[in-house]
Amino acid sequence: MVSTFSNSSVNLSPIRLEIQALQPQLVEWRRQIHQHPELAFQEKLTASLVSHKLGEWGIEHGTEIAETGIAAIIQGKPASKVLAIRADMDALPIQEQNQVPYCSQHDGIMHACGHDGHTAIALGTAYYLHQHRESFTGTVKIIFQPAEESPGGAKPMIEAGVLKNPDVDAILGLHLWNNLPLGTIGVRPGALMAAVELFRCQIFGKGGHGAIPHQTIDSVVIAAQIVTALQTIVARNVNPIDSAVVTVGELHAGTANNVIANTANMSGTVRYFNPDFAGFFHQRIEQIIAGICQSHGANYHLDYWSLYPPVINDRNMAELVESVAEKVVETPMGIVPECQTMGGEDMSLFLQEVPGCYFFLGSANPEKNLAYPHHHPRFDFDETVLQMGVEMFVRCVEKFFGN
Ligand code: NI
Repeated sequence: MVSTFSNSSVNLSPIRLEIQALQPQLVEWRRQIHQHPELAFQEKLTASLVSHKLGEWGIEHGTEIAETGIAAIIQGKPASKVLAIRADMDALPIQEQNQVPYCSQHDGIMHACGHDGHTAIALGTAYYLHQHRESFTGTVKIIFQPAEESPGGAKPMIEAGVLKNPDVDAILGLHLWNNLPLGTIGVRPGALMAAVELFRCQIFGKGGHGAIPHQTIDSVVIAAQIVTALQTIVARNVNPIDSAVVTVGELHAGTANNVIANTANMSGTVRYFNPDFAGFFHQRIEQIIAGICQSHGANYHLDYWSLYPPVINDRNMAELVESVAEKVVETPMGIVPECQTMGGEDMSLFLQEVPGCYFFLGSANPEKNLAYPHHHPRFDFDETVLQMGVEMFVRCVEKFFGN
């Protein structure tokens, strides 16, 4: 795969040379955060590292926004335009299986999604932009967000006014991405990541003897019909040009081979790109469950949650990121326009408020055995990507403000 991001100092732009010099610090911050991973809304050590560094450099910032969030302001030459950059800080409840010197020191918690890298990149970007604040015209707001993995830190940060005062005109964010090799960037206008919805359903039948079914209402048979029928929503109600997923991930019922189960429990997730589907899957799932239960004389209880809307990139901002990416990867071959995933992200909530672009930065390097998928206990990435991330943001800032 194409990987042209160059580390050699031959013929490099001044921006890259300077960011390259930051690389040892980027690695140090990333590893420090990696060693001390923290779950949603508990990112105290991470936030204190960020705040400490920003303070040391003299960068104005607010702390404890939505518990542990931070927003830093870097004022360039005075102008009214404000560009925000967002990074997430939280880790996952996973026991790390990597054997590296910077392994997680917190039992059962691990940065298995690369948010340690996101935080280090945002810090490096803040440092670089602050050093060069005379070279751009406008204001950059850097947002360090808690709890992306769930229950979601974007919403409370927006409610706390993080996009106001100064009012943000546009927003950027990136995700390190082990589905892409180092040296590539995934960016596209429109939907990049899917909406995330969850449901939980309990079927109430009537238990009894396994050999005397006519006296019972079999919740296992009902649940089996529901699981199968739910698959018809994507197959028969969704336009085949659109993409969607309905997954039943859990199904629990029964206690013994010769007992008809009184109740059955299932849970699942729904994903889609098209925002017009908001509300649709909830309605169809409930219709199917209600119809099947009614036909068997059973009852049900359904809980349904719309967690995050789809991540929708603004066309102009996506074009801006794409043109910058060409400089960073040095060839259009390194840009992956068809990159989409049914994974979700609460970056989507920021993108509902202001136009912006979220993009993937390829971080896998199979030659160094750094290609495990996100959320795997052996997830890790090629740290060269850190300087690439800073370069992307710095060049996007320049381009956005027209410098
Ligand atoms: Ni993530």
